[in-house]
Amino acid sequence: MTALPQERRVVTAIPGPKSQELQARRTAAVAAGVGSVLPVFTARAGGGIIEDVDGNRLIDFGSGIAVTSVGASAEAVVRRASAQLADFTHTCFMVTPYEGYVEVAEALAELTPGDHAKKSALFNSGAEAVENAVKIARAHTKRQAVVVFDRGYHGRTNLTMALTSKNMPYKHGFGPFAPEVYRVPVAYGSVSYT
Ligand SMILES: Cc1ncc(COP(=O)(O)O)c(C=O)c1O
Repeated sequence: MTALPQERRVVTAIPGPKSQELQARRTAAVAAGVGSVLPVFTARAGGGIIEDVDGNRLIDFGSGIAVTSVGASAEAVVRRASAQLADFTHTCFMVTPYEGYVEVAEALAELTPGDHAKKSALFNSGAEAVENAVKIARAHTKRQAVVVFDRGYHGRTNLTMALTSKNMPYKHGFGPFAPEVYRVPVAYGSVSYT
């Protein structure tokens, strides 16, 4: 795709009419438990700019909560993902494996610190990765307790919700929680602007 111009451009009220129309459809069709910070609907994004459905271009300070660090539509990612989709979308690695999974594990071994032998397992989300890390640690150590840092966020599934410290909005009303979770204090800085 052609790169988005790297400029802020506001051509309608925010949110614009098309975003407002989509917001009404969203309210009718999407469960209320899924929140959005800004009721502006994305049409395209790239290089730190989000272009909304009304043609406004906004600086993307959200970055998918800091996960689009290579860009929202990085050319290399688009190229590899498109080629993969054309070849096959899914086989389940646990049924019939494929090279891409092995390649990612090799890249992780290369990119992470340390020159010892390393192995990876890939999962669909952070919460799933944390859950599996706990399963692997429990199976290996034969111990059940998990120690987490106070103020840490681990996810929204049942176990990661128990590991997460913040009650609102992640835990309130969603118990009972998984047992054997222990919290330890961690250095925490707060800034005062007074
Ligand atoms: C430190 C940490 N752990 C776990 C998660 C959960 O990841 P996911 O939302 O992909 O389940 C996040 C997500 O923001 C995270 O920041």
